[in-house]
Amino acid sequence: MTVTPHPAAPAASPELIAPDTWLIPHLVPAGEGLLLPVNSMVIRGREPVIVDTGAPAHRASWLDKAFSVVEPEDVRWIFLSHDDGDHTGALFDVLERCPQATLVTNWFSVERLALEKPALPLHRMRWIEPGGSFDAGDRVLQLFRPPVFDGPTSRGLFDPKSGAMWIVDSFACLTPGSLDARELPAELLANCMPALNSAVSPWHAWLDPQVYGRHVDAVEGYGARTVASAHGPVLRGETLDDAFDRLRQMAGASIIPTPGQGLLDQMLVAVMGEGVAA
Ligand SMILES: [Fe+2]
Ligand SMILES: [Fe+2]
Repeated sequence: MTVTPHPAAPAASPELIAPDTWLIPHLVPAGEGLLLPVNSMVIRGREPVIVDTGAPAHRASWLDKAFSVVEPEDVRWIFLSHDDGDHTGALFDVLERCPQATLVTNWFSVERLALEKPALPLHRMRWIEPGGSFDAGDRVLQLFRPPVFDGPTSRGLFDPKSGAMWIVDSFACLTPGSLDARELPAELLANCMPALNSAVSPWHAWLDPQVYGRHVDAVEGYGARTVASAHGPVLRGETLDDAFDRLRQMAGASIIPTPGQGLLDQMLVAVMGEGVAA
């Protein structure tokens, strides 16, 4: 028997979030009327850039959405933020359908992916570390280490031309449906975002607030006006300022517990009826 605790996911269309910058969204039901965003991005400048390639569960739909905003043969860069499965879902399809594209990644991502996927084409990639950049024709995109991450290879991306930033797995937050943080209940942002930041990076409990604060300052100091992430709403203005402030408060704070057996029992009862859960 297949356990399917969630109803079908709602559709979400590509959305222009900053000049030349498209969010490629998917939404996954996450209980109690809330949805988990699973986003990636396309920068449609002189040399178009695909920023992450979605989750395997959304592969076909991701390809439809991404290639509705950019022609595959025009894509010149594939920026892989890190090697987690939910960011590499359509990676091989994109490499095949975008023969002009160079993959921007790093040594450790390639090493880790070699254990689970076919060999990546070394001759089509460039390895760039945090602090490095690459020239996409009409803009120089800058790599940085995100303030919250669940994989050691993670690199964010900042576009000084549009003011848009891809901050990867930082700033995750469930949503009732909107992907604009200004349309989300303030209470949801104040509670859910810290909980998911803590779930993604539980090592925050051992951080020195001053040292970590300097890293957060450096990321905020890029001056992004639009911040998109893989699992949260798009942040701008006050919601963005608040999100950076919440990050600083994580340093040295207790880990926020994630759901345990109690939730599993509830899910089993919801799907299979009373008397199933032990
Ligand atoms: Fe991740
Ligand atoms: Fe992710």
